[in-house]
Order: sequence, then C-alpha cells, then structure tokens
Amino acid sequence: MYQEVGLVDELKVFTGNAHPVLAEAICGYLKIPLGQLDVFQFSNENIFVRILENVRQRDVFVVQTGSSPVNQNLMELLIMIDAMKRASAARITAVIPYYPYSRTDKKDQPRVPITARLVADLLTVAGANRVLTVDLHAGQIQGFFNIPVDELSAIYLLSDYFRKKALPNLVVVAADPGTAKRARNFADRLHAPLAIIEKRRIGNTQKTEAYNVIGDVRDMSALIVDDEIDTGSTIVEAVSALKKAGAIEVYACCTHPVFSDPAIQRLAASPLKEVVVTDTIPLSEKKRLDKITVLSLSPLLGEAIHRIHTGSSVGELFPNGG
Ligand code: R5P
Repeated sequence: MYQEVGLVDELKVFTGNAHPVLAEAICGYLKIPLGQLDVFQFSNENIFVRILENVRQRDVFVVQTGSSPVNQNLMELLIMIDAMKRASAARITAVIPYYPYSRTDKKDQPRVPITARLVADLLTVAGANRVLTVDLHAGQIQGFFNIPVDELSAIYLLSDYFRKKALPNLVVVAADPGTAKRARNFADRLHAPLAIIEKRRIGNTQKTEAYNVIGDVRDMSALIVDDEIDTGSTIVEAVSALKKAGAIEVYACCTHPVFSDPAIQRLAASPLKEVVVTDTIPLSEKKRLDKITVLSLSPLLGEAIHRIHTGSSVGELFPNGG
C-alpha cells in the first residue's frame, strides 16, 4: 500500500549560470558537493534545465543572484524551481543574494509597474516555498510574498572590516536619506557620528544630483554607506560633496556591486580611497580595481541555509538587528 514519505533529511544546493563561484563557496561552507544540473539555451534562446540527480523529498536550495544578464538569470531561476517542483522536491528555497527589480517597488508615478511584486508572484507560482536574500532595497519587499522570506544583512561583515581598519576621526555617511536607517545602524556599530547626503534623482534617467551634506564632516574620514552601486553616479557625486564640505579622505561600501557602465571608470577616476563590496554579484576581471575590496558573504549564506534546513533561528545571526 502507498505510504506517504516524509522529508528526506538531506540538503541539496543547486545553481544556475548567474554566480556559480558563490554557490561553490556556500557548498564549501556546508561541506556538501554542489548539486548536478544542466542549464542551457537552445538555438531559439529558450532556456532548458535538466536536474542530474534525485531530488525527490529533498530540502532543495537554488542559488541564483539577480545579476546581469538580469532577465536571463531570473528566467533560469524560475525554470530551475519549476524543474525541482516537478521532480518532487519536498521544499524549495530560492536563494537570491541580489533581488532583481528591487528598485521598482512602488507606484510612485502614474501608469508604472511594481515589478518587484511581479517577481515575487513569479517565484511563488514557479514553486518556491521560501526565499533567502540579502539587503533588499526596501525591506517591505518581504511583504510582496505570502511565503517566508529571510533577509540577511551585510552590515556586520562590512562594519567589522572598517572596525579593524580603525580609521581616525570617522564619520559614516548615508548616500541618500533613503539609506539613513542602514547608515545609522552602521554608524552605531562603529561608534561614529552620522551625516546624510541630500540627493535628488532626476526623472527616470540614471543621472542624479548630490546636494548638500547634512552633518559635520570637516577634517574627518568619511565612509559612505549604500545598498548598491549601479552606475556609480550617486557615490561619485557624494564624494565631491563630502570633499567640498571638508572631508580629508572618503571611503565607500555597499552590499551589491552592480557596477553597470560607466561605474568602474567613475570609481577609478574619483578620489575615493577604497570601495568595499560583497560578492552578491560576480565581478569580472575588468571590473576589479586595486581600490575595490570584495568580502564574501558565503559563510553567512551557508550558515543561514544550514539553519533553515535544521529549523534553527536565522534571526540569531543578527542579535542587534540588520
Ligand atoms: C538608490 O536608491 C540606491 O540606494 C543607490 O543609491 C542607487 O541604486 C545607486 O545608483 P547609481 O550608482 O546608478 O547612482
């Protein structure tokens, strides 16, 4: 007679083509091999996935970040989840270190989409049972899902790095008022004061304008904090505003190094001393400058996966909040 089989106590991690190096590093932390899977495109650009091992009743984690090419990587993720569901995985967690379309998260003009919500619906319909992500552009995106979302934060990793550097006379600077809460937490962890750049984005273009610096930065080392660097416009404008306001040297850090053109040229030409980022997005050789330091989130992601798998607390990883 048929007997229902419970969850097999086996954790499996798979990845698509977005960031296999990060997936390998996560598996290194977990001391398990990366799951075997083929993901490729047919000549008509249709993506195809073939899982090369049994996932029936397994606890499956699919690692795929929302890096470039964004739409292709997103589609790969959806198709991998669909394949896992149809192969009878017991639970599927989408591990999305950089959530795609996270900046399109509200209807702030007439007749525009909320694509971050659409992505949440697509993931759920594909068959994701949970989501694990890092530093969402807006924490409220968690509420776009009716499945559990665990949001990790890179704040400990990044602030620990700067604590070890022990920069004298440090001030933490929010790249714009929207980042002020994140920067406040960052400043608290470094026992440093906070300043804020008043920034205004013009229309839907990539061009931004940095305005005045709110707070005292004169004769100080300034550390700009942001969730992501895309074209680099926000950061370089913030650097010139800080220099004008009397900062001696300027550092920057962010979780997600999107680094679309011409970010690398802008960062190279700016007087920034160092830009510290994480590996939620892969950086090609040509995007690596001496002044860019990459810290790996693979131990944190690996630990979170272990805790989700064993039913232990993920929140305990952030005792004082993210
Ligand atoms: C904006 O709200 C974000 O926090 C970042 O400041 C922004 O995405 C950076 O974009 P860019 O590097 O193109 O100025």
